Amino acid sequence: MCKINIKLTVIFGVRIMIESLDFGLKDKVAIVAGGGAVGKEIGNGRAASILLAEAGAKVLVADKDDALAKNTVQMIKDRGGEATSISGDLTKSEQCKKVVDFVISKWGRLDILDNNIGIASKLSVVDEPEENWDHVMDINLKPMFLMSKYAIPEMIKSGNGGSIVNISSISATRPRGFTTYSASKGAILSLSQAMAVDHGADGIRVNCILPGPVYTPMVYSSGMTKQHRSQRQNASLIQMEGDGWDIGKAVVYLSSSWARYVTGHLMVVDGGCSLSSRPRG
Ligand SMILES: NC(=O)c1ccc[n+]([C@@H]2O[C@H](COP(=O)([O-])OP(=O)(O)OC[C@H]3O[C@@H](n4cnc5c(N)ncnc54)[C@H](O)[C@@H]3O)[C@@H](O)[C@H]2O)c1
Repeated sequence: MCKINIKLTVIFGVRIMIESLDFGLKDKVAIVAGGGAVGKEIGNGRAASILLAEAGAKVLVADKDDALAKNTVQMIKDRGGEATSISGDLTKSEQCKKVVDFVISKWGRLDILDNNIGIASKLSVVDEPEENWDHVMDINLKPMFLMSKYAIPEMIKSGNGGSIVNISSISATRPRGFTTYSASKGAILSLSQAMAVDHGADGIRVNCILPGPVYTPMVYSSGMTKQHRSQRQNASLIQMEGDGWDIGKAVVYLSSSWARYVTGHLMVVDGGCSLSSRPRG
């Protein structure tokens, strides 16, 4: 009896704790740029979209692939959240403006922008074709610049500050080759801090997440062996490989009122990989 009581108290106590976790996101409006992911898989953008919605935000999932964005929206709705999607190539100025105009026409305000779009590269400067340099730079930086350009004035009009989270990578500070990718992700660190300086007076916080090796469709769709995965785990100080949820949770924290005093921060989420000298594969 006593055991059952303790168990019930623990379960009930934990439940009350979870229900009373208020991130201050209720009725906030968020855009996740690149919030799609293959099938029902959990990428960083999809996890952020789902968790922002679970924390009470209304979420616009923007992605160049309409079907992937719609899957994310359905997953949010299945969990009782509010979301809608829009498709467009966010390297294009008019498409980014369309996304921001759409969110304002739908929900009348904008509070949060998660800039998640990114693709990888593999080669050195000697081997990288010039057009691939342009392509990776375009996709990894342009949507961040353009989405912020149109989002910030609307956040200011909404009258309650705002939060922008830019997704970089530990490759920005601990490159392992992947040279064009690392250079693009390095630029995101300075972009984020410069934006934090420019728009702090408007109450807009701009932070940046540097994910380590996280197990997302982006990495495993190109094939990953058991050996490769254990190398990724061993690279972490806590012998762990992260996943999209780890990055989504960091996005929720940085977007929330819990982080009201946090701006210009470069948040490493990598299980300590960047402090370890072990190769991460
Ligand atoms: N997975 C990792 O190990 C890892 C590590 C470090 C950093 N990251 C970063 O995380 C981010 C990716 O996270 P994810 O798991 O959500 O990736 P993902 O590939 O699952 O999702 C990215 C989404 O962006 C969309 N997209 C691509 N180009 C676009 C464009 N021009 N316009 C609109 N949408 C576009 C894609 O359709 C896709 O749905 C990237 O910035 C990546 O560099 C990932």
